[in-house]
Amino acid sequence: MKDKLNQIKEEALRQIRESKTLEQLNEVRVSQLGKKGALTELLKGMKDVSPEDRPKIGQLVNETRSEIEKVLEDAKKKMEAIVLEARLSKETIDVTLPAKSMKVGNMHPNTRALEEVEKIFIGMGYEVVEGPEIEKDYYNFEALNIPADHPAKDEQDTFYISGDILLRTQTSSTQVHEMEKGKLPIRMIAPGRVFRADEVDATHSPSFHQIEGLVIDKHITFADLKGTLAVFAKELFGEDTKVKFRPHHFPFTEPSAEMDVSCFKCGGKGCRFCKGEGWIEILGCGMVHPHVLEMSNIDPNEYTGFAFGVGLERIALLKYEIDDLRLLYENDVRFLRQF
Ligand code: DAH
Repeated sequence: MKDKLNQIKEEALRQIRESKTLEQLNEVRVSQLGKKGALTELLKGMKDVSPEDRPKIGQLVNETRSEIEKVLEDAKKKMEAIVLEARLSKETIDVTLPAKSMKVGNMHPNTRALEEVEKIFIGMGYEVVEGPEIEKDYYNFEALNIPADHPAKDEQDTFYISGDILLRTQTSSTQVHEMEKGKLPIRMIAPGRVFRADEVDATHSPSFHQIEGLVIDKHITFADLKGTLAVFAKELFGEDTKVKFRPHHFPFTEPSAEMDVSCFKCGGKGCRFCKGEGWIEILGCGMVHPHVLEMSNIDPNEYTGFAFGVGLERIALLKYEIDDLRLLYENDVRFLRQF
């Protein structure tokens, strides 16, 4: 009996040693200690043992069982630790590995152009303000001296939301919002998106951007307008840039003008860039119409001012020599990465 027990023990220990997985260990438990296991089988033979020997043998069987159980338990713990260790080392992150390089976006030519313009005017003491894109007819037209039946309104036939509410066609509407605040003097630029019922082509888009400028103070004259815009042109296009003012008409300024800059490519001699003209049209401007001041409760006898409006895309296209407006809206990174 004793030998038999030893044999079972040795066999169990051997199987435990040879087990490589938790499943195999479990099989050992079943085959050695389970209901049909070798030890249980042996216990069945107890009936053949003499009554006086039974307690001793019984004790021996129990000792063997707990010995095997202990070894089995230790092996299981060790095995679990190994499995955990393997999982952890598989899941660890090696922080010393080189990082994947991140793709950084590019500044859009519009944004770059706008930042340049803002820098120039902030340097001259201007404030940058914004107005709403959804506008009342009053701010977009009426208060800018464009009454209901004015032909200039036809030119900017636009997107109406309801009879009186529309998507603004020009950032000039921000002039009115600023004047209505009642704080004088005013030195502001107002960049923003505008909307017009234009067909898309290389120079037109139904949605584009303008930068409005407005100065109102005592004793502001056309000389201030010319001086300011000449400095702006030089800072934007280069020290040698000359400016030229041509008479024009805008309902909200009187007198009004369009400003051309000497071609910064050929210096004014005429080239492909300026279509042989030597000059490039850049913005509209003028002295704020007295009636416009009056409508916003500013006394034209005390205050005068000048205003200007420049197309942001126009500046971006010129400065970065882009020949199709549509490229600015496609957001193709291969294009954007060039700037
Ligand atoms: N709002 C005009 C346009 O969209 C541009 C403009 C011209 C703005 C003259 C002005 C200005 O402030 O004085 O065509």
